[in-house]
Amino acid sequence: MKKALITGITGQDGSYLADYLLSLGYRVYGMIRRSSTVAYERIHHLIDDITILNADILDQTSLMDIMAQAQPDEIYNLAAQSFVPTSWNQPVLTGEFTALGVTRILESARRVVPGSRIYQASSSEMFGKVLTVPQNEKTPFYPRSPYGAAKVYGHWITINYRESYNQFACSGILFNHESPRRGHEFVTRKISHSVARIKLGQIQYLELGNIDSRRDWGYAGDYVKAMHLMLQQPEPEDYVISTGETHSVREFCEYAFEHAGIPIEWTGEGLKEQGVDKKTGQVRVKISPKYYRPAEVDLLIGDSSKAQDKLGWKPSVRFKDLIEMMVDHDLKDCADLK
Ligand code: NAP
Ligand code: GDD
Repeated sequence: MKKALITGITGQDGSYLADYLLSLGYRVYGMIRRSSTVAYERIHHLIDDITILNADILDQTSLMDIMAQAQPDEIYNLAAQSFVPTSWNQPVLTGEFTALGVTRILESARRVVPGSRIYQASSSEMFGKVLTVPQNEKTPFYPRSPYGAAKVYGHWITINYRESYNQFACSGILFNHESPRRGHEFVTRKISHSVARIKLGQIQYLELGNIDSRRDWGYAGDYVKAMHLMLQQPEPEDYVISTGETHSVREFCEYAFEHAGIPIEWTGEGLKEQGVDKKTGQVRVKISPKYYRPAEVDLLIGDSSKAQDKLGWKPSVRFKDLIEMMVDHDLKDCADLK
């Protein structure tokens, strides 16, 4: 039985990865940081099937201890401060978690379980102000946020440990991936959840920032399979994981409303722009500058041909299917809570 250690198991990806590895027969260890409340929302369904270990990505000794305890064959480093706007409010902490945290994982593994294979959660946010369209493994990085800059560090230190110590360490450069387990502050979940609440009459409208930015959105359940595949290869390499389609926040929003039976049209420009219910004339989306970012990533679209060729990976959920999955889930969830 193979053993896997997942940092960030309480997050969106950690929970899907744990589901997947358990289905493959793995023994799964999940690293959790100490908190005064229990944040097992995404993993309560599998809590009896995994082993929880307490450690913090900020604390090297605790990482070494849990690695010694678990003796993992595979380590998936998903723990991070992952919300881009917070990285401007807490740039130093973001660097500690998202950049130096990676070194702590690599160094702990090198000392305690040198034969283990390591997955590092790199990000398309590293491409930032993109230098090629589409972006692939050879596209240079141009991060646009403290988070993006921290991920670039994490990416290169992973490559450095691979080259310095012959460690089996891979980076997956994952483009945005979403699901009904996505955190509520990320734009897709904010939209699906708000649309559901508007449909159920619980709120009147939602506020968004830049609706013209474009993302390559996939489904988290597909993307964790790529993480696992990377660690099953004969050689450690880095891979872009994406759908190859790009859509604006505006398009995401329009289709989410349409799917819920509230078609909207846009009126006005810039900060005066509003999404108006076509049937009732009610305002359903307002643009608010408080969601604008100091620097924006305008366009992301990935080329995952390497992953498709070498890993045999491809996405199964497309843009509209993803929106339907999220809106349907939130409609049910919000109705149950009513
Ligand atoms: P997420 O839902 O925000 O989960 C982040 C996880 O990190 C949570 O389990 C969190 O634990 C944990 N964590 C944060 N600080 C920690 C600390 N000091 N010590 C231990 N654990 C800590 O993120 P996600 O969407 O699943 O993403 C997983 C990883 O992939 C992240 O590294 C993210 O940056 C990266 N990524 C995500 C995407 C995407 O579109 N989702 C794309 C590219 C890369 P708590 O529950 O205690 O907060
Ligand atoms: N969060 C949020 N809230 N974003 C908004 C809003 C809003 O009200 N209105 C517009 N947006 C725009 C943002 O300006 C951004 O251009 C886009 O929606 C997507 O924002 P997020 O969903 O917060 O994701 P992200 O692209 O910044 O970051 C996510 O993807 C990265 C991979 O590219 C995160 O999951 C990162 O951790 C991940 O690395």
